[in-house]
Amino acid sequence: MKRVLVTGGAGFIGGHLVKRLLLDGFGVVVLDDLSTGQLSKIPSKATFVQGSVLDRELVDATIANVDACIHLAAIASVLRCNGELVSSHQVNTTGFLRVVEAISRVNRDVQLLYASSAAVYGANESCPLHEELKTDPISPYGVDKMSCELHARAAYEVYGISSFGFRFFNVYGPGQDPSSPYSGVITKFTEMIKRGENLSIFGDGEQTRDFVFVGDIVDCLVAALRQGTTGAKILNVCTGEKVSINELARIITEIFETDPNVEYKAAMAGEVRHSVGDPSRLMAKLGCGASTSLREGLRSFLK
Ligand SMILES: NC(=O)c1ccc[n+]([C@@H]2O[C@H](COP(=O)([O-])OP(=O)(O)OC[C@H]3O[C@@H](n4cnc5c(N)ncnc54)[C@H](O)[C@@H]3O)[C@@H](O)[C@H]2O)c1
Repeated sequence: MKRVLVTGGAGFIGGHLVKRLLLDGFGVVVLDDLSTGQLSKIPSKATFVQGSVLDRELVDATIANVDACIHLAAIASVLRCNGELVSSHQVNTTGFLRVVEAISRVNRDVQLLYASSAAVYGANESCPLHEELKTDPISPYGVDKMSCELHARAAYEVYGISSFGFRFFNVYGPGQDPSSPYSGVITKFTEMIKRGENLSIFGDGEQTRDFVFVGDIVDCLVAALRQGTTGAKILNVCTGEKVSINELARIITEIFETDPNVEYKAAMAGEVRHSVGDPSRLMAKLGCGASTSLREGLRSFLK
């Protein structure tokens, strides 16, 4: 069985992934600095190394003992990256390069899977977004994720390091951070309903997103790990379903069997209007997709 390093394994997606890898019999090492992650998310069967992906010696030593690395560690908040340009760039780009450099030095056969983001599409509002389309990131976070993809390509050309880069769309599921720009809206709606408040929606609520259940993200990562790859591949991880914020609010209120008033507030500046991905390449390459419907995914953990 493979030994897998999960950077950022104490975070939202990482916590779910680590549990699943252990259940499937993989040996798991987590490298996380606990800046946003929580120790409670790491099962005792995993080996935990507390530290930063920017620590060269630590990353080298950790990579030396694994067959694969799933790199999730990042400052995942777009807003935080807007406010902390250099430090977020260091974690999001230099941190990725540290991992690549360690693989290049220690063992080039280590399989590399890493989190990119739908943010690389940025201002490109083609519908649906597929991997051949022009990337046009408009946030520092999106630019850093784009540069990870470019470095992954260069790492293949220069060192022969193979990788899968996953453009996650809006991931949701149990344990997500309410301040997450991706799917924090789900936690916020839930909390407003539980407190008996009106639902606040920014803009007219007709902006659309592609919400992906975290269990599907984990399935895709595990499928890629088992399959292995050559080259530097990029895959959307999305459902292809376009859901408006109004529709999301309707589904959540149905689940809670309630009918709160909706209050529309001024639209948020710079918000992308539509973001829906094309999952065809994911299906073709991995034979799996993000198949959990939003209603089904939400029912599994809300209430
Ligand atoms: N959640 C989403 O919808 C979404 C969408 C697109 C892409 N992504 C990407 O997926 C990955 C995981 O996201 P998440 O939602 O689980 O975020 P998260 O903030 O819950 O997890 C990130 C983890 O990385 C750790 N970390 C941060 N800086 C570190 C450093 N210097 N060294 C070691 N560990 C460090 C944090 O402590 C945390 O545990 C990120 O790369 C994110 O950019 C997430």
